[in-house]
Amino acid sequence: MSEVVAQQAEEEEVVVDLAIADKVIDKYIDIPGNLMPVLQGVQDEYGYVPRVVAEHVAERLNVYPSQIYGVLTFYAQFHLKPRGRFIIRVCVGTACHVQGATRIVETFFDKLHIGHAETTPDLRYTFEKVACLGACGMAPLAMVNDATYGGMTVQKVDEIVTDYNQRPI
Ligand code: FES
Repeated sequence: MSEVVAQQAEEEEVVVDLAIADKVIDKYIDIPGNLMPVLQGVQDEYGYVPRVVAEHVAERLNVYPSQIYGVLTFYAQFHLKPRGRFIIRVCVGTACHVQGATRIVETFFDKLHIGHAETTPDLRYTFEKVACLGACGMAPLAMVNDATYGGMTVQKVDEIVTDYNQRPI
């Protein structure tokens, strides 16, 4: 199966309730410049912007799908693929790099069996390497959703993964 066909098959398996998108669209439908709030709203609801939702938004707001995809691909805040319940971010800024961030990143890769910007098949985790998180004094630094973990070690990676593996998704 080619990569494109595989990707299409994967997307077709996603069942999306468009009524959720319609609620968001209805809220902003009469407001000028509503594209960004609508896209942010649908992403908040679904956790990402499914292709079928992007096309539905285009149709309902009477804009070209290419305009929607232009916005979705320009702004890093938007995601076109499902994301994990737990977003793990490891800082690879200079201070964290000097304190061993590479080893922390590699340990997460080994434990989660995913790489940068990837999501586990069960949608538990998404992993991202990020630039300076602004807390260099705590280097090397990791975050899981809003929780911050300073002074990261291989042992702490183990503890974090064990902890979050037990949490419901
Ligand atoms: S370099 Fe990692 S928090 Fe600043």
